[in-house]
Amino acid sequence: MKTIIEPFRIKSVEPIRFTTREEREVILKAAGYNPFLIHADDVLIDLLTDSGTSAMSAKQWAGIMEGDESYAGSKSFYRFESMVKKITGDEFVIPTHQGRAAEKILFSILGGEGKYIPNNTHFDTTRANIEFSGAEAFDLLNETGKHPEIRADFKGDMDVDALVKFIEEKGVENIPCVMLTVTNNSGGGQPVSMKNVREVKNVCIKYDLPLIIDACRFAENAYFIKKREAGYDDKSILEIAQEMFSYADGATMSAKKDALVNIGGFLSLNDENLAMQCRNLLIVTEGFPTYGGLAGRDLEAVAQGLEEVVDEHYLEYRIRSTEYLGEKLLDAGIPIIEPPGGHAIYIDAKRFLPNVTPDKYPGQAITCELYLEGGVRAVEIGSVMFGKYDKKTGALIPPPMELVRMAIPRRVYTQSHIDYVAEVAIEVFKNREKLNGYEITYEAPMLRHFTARFRKL
Ligand code: F0G
Repeated sequence: MKTIIEPFRIKSVEPIRFTTREEREVILKAAGYNPFLIHADDVLIDLLTDSGTSAMSAKQWAGIMEGDESYAGSKSFYRFESMVKKITGDEFVIPTHQGRAAEKILFSILGGEGKYIPNNTHFDTTRANIEFSGAEAFDLLNETGKHPEIRADFKGDMDVDALVKFIEEKGVENIPCVMLTVTNNSGGGQPVSMKNVREVKNVCIKYDLPLIIDACRFAENAYFIKKREAGYDDKSILEIAQEMFSYADGATMSAKKDALVNIGGFLSLNDENLAMQCRNLLIVTEGFPTYGGLAGRDLEAVAQGLEEVVDEHYLEYRIRSTEYLGEKLLDAGIPIIEPPGGHAIYIDAKRFLPNVTPDKYPGQAITCELYLEGGVRAVEIGSVMFGKYDKKTGALIPPPMELVRMAIPRRVYTQSHIDYVAEVAIEVFKNREKLNGYEITYEAPMLRHFTARFRKL
């Protein structure tokens, strides 16, 4: 077996800026110890997110020039629409400027007071849009998915028994739809099996509920199915994706992930009535139905990206690069969510810093140290992002896991960049006894992780 190489060569490069540790101390302090508030110029390797950070291909850039900017009926829209339809099989394709705009539109119509929406794990914008509508969002992840150290093939699966119980308890009339997020970002980028999609669909059929897929990373999920689930080995990624979407009644998609673009998204639906309502809202909030918050050139780039992302050489390299980083960290004894997920490595901060309790934000401490050590920017996914306060006592209610996500932008970094990231993380791990945690000095009422400020303990 030969080394799995980047299935592209590099035509255009972007320098990255080196800083000293002393400079980074000043920069991080000025950013309130919140890496979201650091200028990107001051970051050497940026693993904050895999969203909107992809390198586009020569064909996508050519598409940018080809983009038809007609207000209505642009040819770029029809190319985009036919590509999305080819994958999802849905009849109604509604472009949005990114994933959360699709969520906002969908839940403005399906959500509202007294409604409950289950998912394997809602991403934070999905949860925020559901809650903003007055509805409640629930995570029904299977048990293995909640244990970072357990190795299993499909840790993103929904707990189907819990779903049935949930529907019976909340009342089917109060549940507008069931969602599945593929791969399960907040749960470690873990895939959902086709078997699970089918089982969830069967429950949806029984209760006559629509199934909506949060499809941000559908191609990465399809690759895991091909490699890990019996019966899919000789199917193409496109065929696997098509089968998965065939069980769904619609999808929300952030094209900033698996469509390999810097901006874009869509809502795709098979229900005409619902699609009509969504389009009416789209016109008010995003734009005319054939561009919906995007330029014609963006629609071209998404269409081309969707063609490229289902390429197996690309996905083999993509999934292997993530696994490669995971293996290096595991070899050094660093606890991560196992097995490595699709788009990111998630350090288990609870085991990394067992003496720093959730109310001292162990994930934040590791994230800050990664930056100080080597200019690597990661993101906390733990009590800063998902912590809530007890209404009576004011005490922090931590989420089940304290994680640090190192998300890998698509087609951006090479193997030596990843080697460097591993070296930085290993150095932080060696010096972990020196880390004491943080306290929050400012926070916003919603999605506080983006703007919170901290003090080092
Ligand atoms: N759903 C999932 C599973 C996501 O990961 C994201 C974005 C969204 C929806 C929202 O899409 O950003 O285009 O509005 N995730 C990014 C991340 C921000 O860093 O994981 P968006």
